[in-house]
Amino acid sequence: MNASLLINENHRIQTQQLDVPPRLLLGPGPSNAHPRVLQALGMRQIGHLDPQFIELMNEIQSLLKYAWQTDNPLTIPVSATGSAAMEGTLANTIEAGDVVLVGINGYFGHRLVDMAGRYGADVRKLTKPWGEVFNLDELRAGLEEHRPAILALVHAETSTGACQPLEDVGDLCREYDCLLLADTVTSLGGVPLLLDEWGVDMAYSGSQKCLSCPPGIAPFTLGPRAVNKLSQRKTPVPNWYLDMALVAQYWGTERTYHHTAPINMNYALREALRLVADEGLEARWARHRHTAELFWEGLAEMGIKCHVEAQYRLPSLTTVCIPEGIDGKAVTRQLLANYNIEIGNGLGELAGKAWRVGLMGFNSRPENVTLLLTALKEVLAKEGYSAS
Ligand SMILES: Cc1ncc(COP(=O)(O)O)c(C=O)c1O
Repeated sequence: MNASLLINENHRIQTQQLDVPPRLLLGPGPSNAHPRVLQALGMRQIGHLDPQFIELMNEIQSLLKYAWQTDNPLTIPVSATGSAAMEGTLANTIEAGDVVLVGINGYFGHRLVDMAGRYGADVRKLTKPWGEVFNLDELRAGLEEHRPAILALVHAETSTGACQPLEDVGDLCREYDCLLLADTVTSLGGVPLLLDEWGVDMAYSGSQKCLSCPPGIAPFTLGPRAVNKLSQRKTPVPNWYLDMALVAQYWGTERTYHHTAPINMNYALREALRLVADEGLEARWARHRHTAELFWEGLAEMGIKCHVEAQYRLPSLTTVCIPEGIDGKAVTRQLLANYNIEIGNGLGELAGKAWRVGLMGFNSRPENVTLLLTALKEVLAKEGYSAS
């Protein structure tokens, strides 16, 4: 074929070598990947059934179990983003008509409702205002009223910045013979999270938040009670790609081909998880808290409030109340254009009311707090804000 037929005067394709600005990603995610993770991402490829890759898969599983503090054998990365791992938990454990109770106190609770409904669940809702969390009595009352097969809660609500306490919720679920599902997308690797101790039966996460790996690979785990529900299904999992009975053969001892794992994303995730293990979970959680506290103190000095009560505030994601009379989007636009700093606008109920600031993984460092606060002060001064 003559290339001039494809690229001629009328269809000239003019591209330049890819270049992007050096953004500091302090929004709700993705965060900037750690340099060691980016280096691993660019490593030469091997085949996905190569003995060396199989060894690497084993390492990822062990490192993930550490990061999540679980012994679940079915702990793997899904070859897709967090939403696919989210869908995977539901697709594998819901059978048509199962009652699924979802705690909705932000955007991602609604996504769980949408997904669970698509798998034929009889979805019930427990709701709270955005930014608040459920206490044990409220959860008990919900379980008592609805008697669900699954209780789904978002541990770290990226839309609100609230951290849902999960201690004792697993015990409660066992009392009601119900599985506990936790969304840990914005907590894994940044916020205390003890899956087995808390009795979480299934969880998913993302690579692009506190793990500081690019998006595209998503941690997933099913505990023994959830695996039991999967193995007792009367109908096949209605999603071929996410059917863990099949995927587990790929990640289990057989290593039977299921799909072609994204080799380089697995290199990247392995390095991200190695960084978690090198630092140690407790030190990492303390670093995230320390950095967030510096940020919260700086905001307070500027007379700016946080949306979530201090006790339930996520160290990884802060919803910052936009001061009266300030155009929030104008501020985020200027931070990006003039300072190369990305922060997020509010979602849903918090649209126009809050900014979302992520201090996650590699980005959770005091110098980033100083940079952001300095830039924010300058932009807000231009917008006419003065601390009262
Ligand atoms: C709490 C929460 N759950 C689920 C998701 C979905 O993950 P992804 O965008 O990687 O598909 C996100 C993404 O931001 C999230 O913050």
